[in-house]
Amino acid sequence: MNAMPEPLRLPGLVDLHVHLRDPGQTAKEDFLTGTGAALAGGFTTVLDMPNNAVPVTTSELLEAKGSVARSRIVCDTGLYLGSLGEDLAELSDPSGLAWGLKLYLNRTTGGYLLDAERLSDVFLAWHGRGPILVHAEADVIGTVLAASRATGRRVHVCHVSRRAELEPILAAKADGTAVTCGVTPHHLFLTEDDARRLGPFGEVRPRLAPRPDVDFLWEHLDGIDVVESDHAPHTTADKEQGAFGFPGLETTLPLLLQAEREGQLTRADIVGKCALAPRTILGLPEQPDTVVEIEPVEFEIGSTGLLTRAGWTPFAGRPGFGRVHRVTLRGERVFEDGQVLAAPGSGRLLRPSS
Ligand code: DOR
Ligand code: ZN
Repeated sequence: MNAMPEPLRLPGLVDLHVHLRDPGQTAKEDFLTGTGAALAGGFTTVLDMPNNAVPVTTSELLEAKGSVARSRIVCDTGLYLGSLGEDLAELSDPSGLAWGLKLYLNRTTGGYLLDAERLSDVFLAWHGRGPILVHAEADVIGTVLAASRATGRRVHVCHVSRRAELEPILAAKADGTAVTCGVTPHHLFLTEDDARRLGPFGEVRPRLAPRPDVDFLWEHLDGIDVVESDHAPHTTADKEQGAFGFPGLETTLPLLLQAEREGQLTRADIVGKCALAPRTILGLPEQPDTVVEIEPVEFEIGSTGLLTRAGWTPFAGRPGFGRVHRVTLRGERVFEDGQVLAAPGSGRLLRPSS
């Protein structure tokens, strides 16, 4: 008789870049479905971006968002503040809920864009805890790194997708600039060929890249601090209308574990980039007695059975490895065999100030 294979055990993973759409766009996702998808994907901490239907650019809006989150979350959740460069006073003493400041320097969902000329002023105005996180593609990455160097503010560059972004970041790191960066699974596992194949379902910002850029990311994985899903749920109807972004919370871990099997990275890379480094970058609290148990099976990723309200994935048809069987958070069973067991509101709304 064959013994059951031993489950894999991982610490609770951290995704420092998700869009849970709540409040304002709960037809796409809400705090309950989004944090449930996180647990299903092995993530026990997520950090939510401020490009809600009403951009979260004031402490008042951030606290209001926190109140919505508090009653619905099933895993630990932190929030970022945003800025359009308009009310710099909001950045000097932000709400104690802000884990960082997110700035968009390229156009994407919500048309929430900061003029790069405002960058140094915004950097200098930020006196909150945590880094400034930027959506900054190749055309503006130099401006961002110069602003970080000039102001001393710590920067995290989200979703690097091209050599022309990563190369200057690696050079800045070597020079001692306080910069970290993240990569998404879609920029590691998909290319512009997939974008063509997927049509509107392949639209994401930054765009999926040519193969040589994707190869450059893999070749310099050691210089990329974190893997961040950029979970950006949109309904299939919204995608057909041209919305940018992919859900990713439930596919990140199986894609990475499959890549581990294929020798593209190690288990230590996965734990480092999906738990240790995001925790260090943000100063997140530890989660004692927290473990993710994973059934070691290969399967074909598909759009059925996902907990995200978006209900589809651009990775359908690809092999994934590892099904999350059970998640224990602070000693409580919060997820098992496809079911969220935690009650809405039982996750912690994290405050960096406490
Ligand atoms: O494709 C994207 N979708 N890129 C972003 O920067 C934002 C995200 C979203 O919120 O939908
Ligand atoms: Zn994002």
